Amino acid sequence: MSSEPLAFELSQRGHRTTDQPISYLMAEALRRPNLISLAAGFVDDQTLPREAVAEAAAQLLSDPQTARSALQYGTTQGYSPLREAICEHLNALDHTPGRYQPQDVVVTTGSQQLLHLLTEVLIDPGGIVVTAWPTYFVYTGVLEAFGAQVRGVDMDEQGIIPEALDETLSRLEREGHLPGAGAGIVYITSYHQNPTGLTLSAQRRPRIVDIVRRHSEKAGRRILIVEDAAYRELTFHGEAPPSLRSFDEKGEYVALLQTFSKPFAPGMKTGYGLLPRDLVGSVLLQKTGRDFGSSNFNQQILNLVLRNGAFEAHVKKLCAAYAVKRDAMLAALDEHLGNIPGAGVTWTKPAGGLYVWLTLPPGMDAGRDGRLFGRSLEQGVLFVPGEYCYPPDPTRQAPGNTIRLSFGVADAQQIRRGVERLGQAIASLGRE
Ligand SMILES: Cc1ncc(COP(=O)(O)O)c(C=O)c1O
Repeated sequence: MSSEPLAFELSQRGHRTTDQPISYLMAEALRRPNLISLAAGFVDDQTLPREAVAEAAAQLLSDPQTARSALQYGTTQGYSPLREAICEHLNALDHTPGRYQPQDVVVTTGSQQLLHLLTEVLIDPGGIVVTAWPTYFVYTGVLEAFGAQVRGVDMDEQGIIPEALDETLSRLEREGHLPGAGAGIVYITSYHQNPTGLTLSAQRRPRIVDIVRRHSEKAGRRILIVEDAAYRELTFHGEAPPSLRSFDEKGEYVALLQTFSKPFAPGMKTGYGLLPRDLVGSVLLQKTGRDFGSSNFNQQILNLVLRNGAFEAHVKKLCAAYAVKRDAMLAALDEHLGNIPGAGVTWTKPAGGLYVWLTLPPGMDAGRDGRLFGRSLEQGVLFVPGEYCYPPDPTRQAPGNTIRLSFGVADAQQIRRGVERLGQAIASLGRE
């Protein structure tokens, strides 16, 4: 008899879920200690809010009653004072006093969990998800696991292009895919997008909501805009445009997702969504089976920091620190990639967030199996191949010449050195 254990037969979803590229990139960074990683979307270590969290935790734990409440299970929907504070925060950002209501807010274990839950509630295998092209690659992995049919919509400097979205939805209707397996989702990262760093312009926002409303009415089924605003607070100067949600007056078409991971502390892994009221119940049913509530302790800490001003003060500090690193990256790109003979590299100039998106000359392969990726590793710099950020859309081919760089983790000096190494790798391929 063989000593091999019997094989497990994985579920269909188990089979459809493939390894995320991020695991490979993280392993590569750990294997090479001298590598400068401009790949990870992690936040800056030095600015994490140690003192604000220590103070809030001490306040919670010093009183037996608040300590017991924080250390006990909470509710599936989330700590209600926090949901109130979240509404105040969102109403302040959108200048909509009193409009958003705590009963429409669900607190989740990171906004990633809510992306997953909404997809679970709305999309069966074959269901339609339309997303910007390129898009956030961890969500792409979720869509593959659910067997969604994905369509990518072009972007320009002002974010996703409304006419292109309109055309994509019309095509899906003509082909009989809408309504199809599930209501359909339009997924948009509306501020400082991961991976391009671009923000959807203010003028386009009401148009996007109108387009989705119109196509929903035609399909006789509501399509949901999932507005992923993970990087909203990381707007370095001035004010960011109002959310897509603010143009959805009755709160029917947009789920607005935000997180404490990027503007505060990813270790608390707490995100939230303001949902159409009639979706809240279905999402909570799914969440009950998953964890019946996110960490109550973390939620109570976040409630205190939102209310005592520490969150806002921290965001200001973060924006100042990240602006310096963004500027270091853009200056280094000018210096080291601006004049590579024959190369013609271009890049975005983000007003916030953590990412810069590079486009190399059309023939240059920036993929994981391409020469540039290997050469960059030899030079000691790691980037995210842009190919990961294009979801599998059977109607179009992903370009292979794009790169995502992050200025989140590395310090300004490492950023300059990393970009210099990348420039050397690109120039060396140009010479061959
Ligand atoms: C666009 C976007 N959405 C959502 C998330 C999920 O973050 P979290 O689950 O920590 O809130 C991330 C994390 O990198 C992201 O980049």
